[in-house]
Amino acid sequence: MAKINPDKGRVLVGRKRIAGCVSRLADEIRKTYAGQEELTILAVLTGSMIFLSDLIRRLPMRLRLELVWMTSFYGRRSQQGPPKFKMEIPPGLGGRHVLVVDDILDSGQTLSLIMMGAASQRPASLRSCVFLAKKRPDLPDRVKPDFLGIEIEDEFVFGYGLDYDNLYRNLPDVMVMKSGRRSGKP
Ligand code: IMP
Ligand code: MG
Repeated sequence: MAKINPDKGRVLVGRKRIAGCVSRLADEIRKTYAGQEELTILAVLTGSMIFLSDLIRRLPMRLRLELVWMTSFYGRRSQQGPPKFKMEIPPGLGGRHVLVVDDILDSGQTLSLIMMGAASQRPASLRSCVFLAKKRPDLPDRVKPDFLGIEIEDEFVFGYGLDYDNLYRNLPDVMVMKSGRRSGKP
């Protein structure tokens, strides 16, 4: 089996910093929903799954998990159209306290689309939690997550759930190309 070549990337956000960040986010979320009986997480597949599993195990509350599946990014921003649903937002969010969880914010299109779709079901409250956000000063009106982990430069990253061509999600750290390219193959 081919091994991942560690020379191709460097650690941008290491596992210790990730753990600290997840724990801080969980504290913020716990405090925000302290008065509520139940929380519904709507997680965006596939990239959020590692972050999601770390986060929800730090949320000691009555919690429902719903999933939505969006098209992948693959690091070729210029060839991309708008994000598309592979699996639609499930029904039943009406009247619930809904928290959308995603891995990374780039243009914000994915999160905006999901927030709009979820809002149309009239939840009792609707917020978002995103692990990473790329600095995009060119997009001042980009959607703002209610809970944000770490801001990073506008570079292509992989690992900790984030992929290139559906690869490298299993790496325990967030990696970036050594050359600092915005996109490309690790
Ligand atoms: P946006 O719609 O442009 O905000 O892109 C967000 C989605 O694209 C995320 O849910 C990720 O799945 C994916 N994405 C954006 N940037 C990266 C990256 O650097 N590496 C891997 N996936 C990314
Ligand atoms: Mg995604």
